[in-house]
Amino acid sequence: MTREPHSAAQFTPARDHWWHADFLDLMAKRLDLGACRNVLELGAGKGHWTSLILERIAPDGRITAVERERRWIAAIERRFAGNDRVRALQGDITSLALEPRQYDMVTCQTVLMHLQNVPAVLHDAYDLLAPGGLLLVSEPDNFANRISLTSVVASLTAEQFGQVAAMWWAFEKGRESHGLGEEWIAVRLPALINAAGFTGLKAYHNDRPAMLAPPYTSKEERAAITDWLAAPAHETDVAGREEVLRFVLAGGMDEATFDRAWVILSAVDARSRAALSGRTLSSCTGGNLYLFAARKPAR
Ligand SMILES: C[S@@+](CC[C@H](N)C(=O)[O-])C[C@H]1O[C@@H](n2cnc3c(N)ncnc32)[C@H](O)[C@@H]1O
Repeated sequence: MTREPHSAAQFTPARDHWWHADFLDLMAKRLDLGACRNVLELGAGKGHWTSLILERIAPDGRITAVERERRWIAAIERRFAGNDRVRALQGDITSLALEPRQYDMVTCQTVLMHLQNVPAVLHDAYDLLAPGGLLLVSEPDNFANRISLTSVVASLTAEQFGQVAAMWWAFEKGRESHGLGEEWIAVRLPALINAAGFTGLKAYHNDRPAMLAPPYTSKEERAAITDWLAAPAHETDVAGREEVLRFVLAGGMDEATFDRAWVILSAVDARSRAALSGRTLSSCTGGNLYLFAARKPAR
């Protein structure tokens, strides 16, 4: 069996709808992205964040997009073919051998959440930045996303909701124990960024909530629903039952408790699918995707 590259299941069209362009324009103005000429991006995937940043840095600014997976390097090269402002660099962001103090900005989106040793990567980012350089990271709290309400989830009893939430927390603990990082890294980042020596830390919340409003006419709603329905019934966006169970057990929950929560989750999934088909499911969650900006001290 061929291994799917990292994050393959996450690179769906829904990713194109994560940000409002005018919100990013506002961030670019506040953070003076237009002054950035030499940018390093960590874990660039297929270049979604690269594109958004490229539009907002100096017109002659360049991005070195580091990515470990060969297939995504090829995707970045295709996406930016003929554009010499983007250079794809295959490498591991936990062991970069790049010249220090050369970048105006080090940036990433939904990457630190996958790493075991985030302080080490922030430390390297600090070294790679020129004095006064900008750290700009976009990371989520996906635990909050997993337990966010929809009109279907809201019909659970308090006890059922608690069982599902406990299962997802055990899942998060299990992922962490396997060295797969913290999907809720946004919660930790303020302390970690300050501890790495950065100053002037600011946090911003993405202003595009994930909304599902019947009859779901917008492109972003249709993309989100396509992702939802594409997952096999009774499975989650992240993994099938067996993989969720593996992490849940590693996270300290026993199988019988997991089974009870899984039955509730499966029922929610079936009812959600029916509600989507019947155009009755309603939701609006924060998305819980944050931007953190901080600077290396000028001297
Ligand atoms: C969720 S994706 C995000 C991709 C892109 N930043 C975006 O927002 O569309 C995480 C990416 O980080 C890459 N990645 C994870 N660990 C890495 C490492 N140690 N070195 C380089 N790339 C890594 C993965 O291959 C994947 O493409």
